[in-house]
Amino acid sequence: MARILVTGSSDGLGRMAAQLLIERGHAVVLHARHAARGREAMAAVPGAEAVLVADLASLAQTRDLAAQANALGPFDAVIHNAAVGYREPRRLVTEDGLAHVFAVNTLAPYVLTALMLRPRRLVYVSSELHRRGDPSLNDLAWERRPWNGNKAYSDTKLHDVLLAFAVARRWPEVRSNAMEPGWVATKMSPRATGDLDAAHRTQVWLATDDDPAATGTGGYFHHLRPKAPSGATGDPARQDRLLAECERLSGVRMPNA
Ligand SMILES: NC(=O)c1ccc[n+]([C@@H]2O[C@H](COP(=O)([O-])OP(=O)(O)OC[C@H]3O[C@@H](n4cnc5c(N)ncnc54)[C@H](OP(=O)(O)O)[C@@H]3O)[C@@H](O)[C@H]2O)c1
Repeated sequence: MARILVTGSSDGLGRMAAQLLIERGHAVVLHARHAARGREAMAAVPGAEAVLVADLASLAQTRDLAAQANALGPFDAVIHNAAVGYREPRRLVTEDGLAHVFAVNTLAPYVLTALMLRPRRLVYVSSELHRRGDPSLNDLAWERRPWNGNKAYSDTKLHDVLLAFAVARRWPEVRSNAMEPGWVATKMSPRATGDLDAAHRTQVWLATDDDPAATGTGGYFHHLRPKAPSGATGDPARQDRLLAECERLSGVRMPNA
């Protein structure tokens, strides 16, 4: 039995992954953006051990989430699942002066990775759309570019793969992988037509399975199989640049090995 934290497990694929993990006998800690969502998550996922509460759009709350998790941890695995979608009509600015989608989808998993006690496995939920992300990593806070919600989301999903691969290089003892669930109908994308029943299984497999294919590091997966990610993700200099930018914008340093 493993003990796993799933971020964004009040809904969608995070909730489905948490339910499947519990069905398979694992211990699961949920995460929700505020207390009421936390109560809903605990009601929707019977058997969950606890729920941690933090709005990932806030750097202060994300740091606090890492502290809450460390008080319960270390975990065997963390699934970085929480995200906001691609339909923000304008650049929403967080209390830290950052683009909302970047804060939640990129900076929060970076900060949690850096501040949480190191788990044995890390899983970063990305998307096929990472291929459309801007590999230059310029203007991550969207201060100079005209806003484009779709591009902003795609950028963050590229960042999630870069983050997974950067961590895999830095921390060889941790299995750090990224994956895409397919385009499936959740709150994020209600009209999607992909296979919902397959969409949460790869993250559960990467977090817990002893299958040799699931126990490597620095891989990218779709439906329990390796898949080639964007070529931009394999560049160590780009991976390190993302870490440096995230450190600059968050004030949190990623520890070395
Ligand atoms: N659905 C797809 O077709 C698809 C395709 C490719 C990749 N993905 C990826 O799959 C993952 C899960 O997405 P989903 O489809 O399950 O979306 P979802 O149903 O919208 O669920 C997203 C989860 O993240 C949480 N969350 C969002 N912003 C948060 C914040 N500021 N603080 C704390 N929690 C926050 C949500 O909480 P609330 O419930 O309170 O909003 C929810 O629990 C994401 O990483 C997404 O990028 C999805």
